[in-house]
Amino acid sequence: MSILYGKDILRTDTLSDGEIDLILSTASRFESVLKAGGRLGNMAGQVLATLFFEPSTRTRLSFEAAMLRLGGQVITVADPRTSSAAKGESLADSMRTVEGYADVIVIRHPRKGSAQEAADAVAVPVINAGDGAGQHPTQALLDIYTIQKEKGSLEGLTVALAGDLKHGRTVHSLVYLLARFGIQLIFVSPSVLTMPAEITADLKKMDADVSASSDLAAAMRQSDVVYMTRIQRERFEDPAEYERLRGSYVVDVAMIRQANPGITIMHPLPRVDEIASEVDAYEGAAYFRQAANGVPVRMALLALVTGCE
Ligand code: NCD
Repeated sequence: MSILYGKDILRTDTLSDGEIDLILSTASRFESVLKAGGRLGNMAGQVLATLFFEPSTRTRLSFEAAMLRLGGQVITVADPRTSSAAKGESLADSMRTVEGYADVIVIRHPRKGSAQEAADAVAVPVINAGDGAGQHPTQALLDIYTIQKEKGSLEGLTVALAGDLKHGRTVHSLVYLLARFGIQLIFVSPSVLTMPAEITADLKKMDADVSASSDLAAAMRQSDVVYMTRIQRERFEDPAEYERLRGSYVVDVAMIRQANPGITIMHPLPRVDEIASEVDAYEGAAYFRQAANGVPVRMALLALVTGCE
């Protein structure tokens, strides 16, 4: 059994270097099998429950595809209005119930801290697929997997992270992994959407090389990768504030021409208007490849926490 057997995957800052390496190498092994047209039955007879109390396309479907690719089966709540949460059931009670039906549970919920609460209620492994503006560890793992694949190595890279750094749970998780690999970070955001202070303090403790800017074009001249994010409309109390900030940063082909040659463009998706559609034809536009990488990375996570790798 691996070092991840029976564990919850709730955040990235508590993963060890060995666990991160194991996830990335297992994902790569699964990807090679799938690419060669092979079939896997590692999780035959097991059931995954996906509980999504917030909208999702990629995360839920790639977890479900991952389970099916491993020969397992899936039960799901895709719309919270159809679950007993709508009748007032507590998260802990829902979790205890689902634990009776599944070997592993993936949960997305609008409240920060909810994934930990869900995990505390049950003995089966729980994977956090996004807890409000908290963390989104599986996205960060597929992001780092993508950077490694696109760039050939993580060594000596500079990554700019742009957009809503305040509310974006993908960047909250990703920066810990990037810092762990010694990647230089440039944070690009409007002044009201900067990275939360507790995260920058953690990065400082890790001796991470971090700078901040509001100038995306300048950051792109110095970066190997730019990671764009959506302004997180659902986290704003004041819709007018969202309207004022949307469209703050838009990558287009003219910016890429001025940027560090060969720059890789990433985005966890969905994009609203952060990347012009003309960029899709650029060979360094990696966001749909990034989304596809969700399957082998989530296969690795499901298999490792259940001891089926
Ligand atoms: C992200 C999320 O849900 O945090 N989406 C995803 O899982 N790929 C990013 C976002 O919604 O902006």
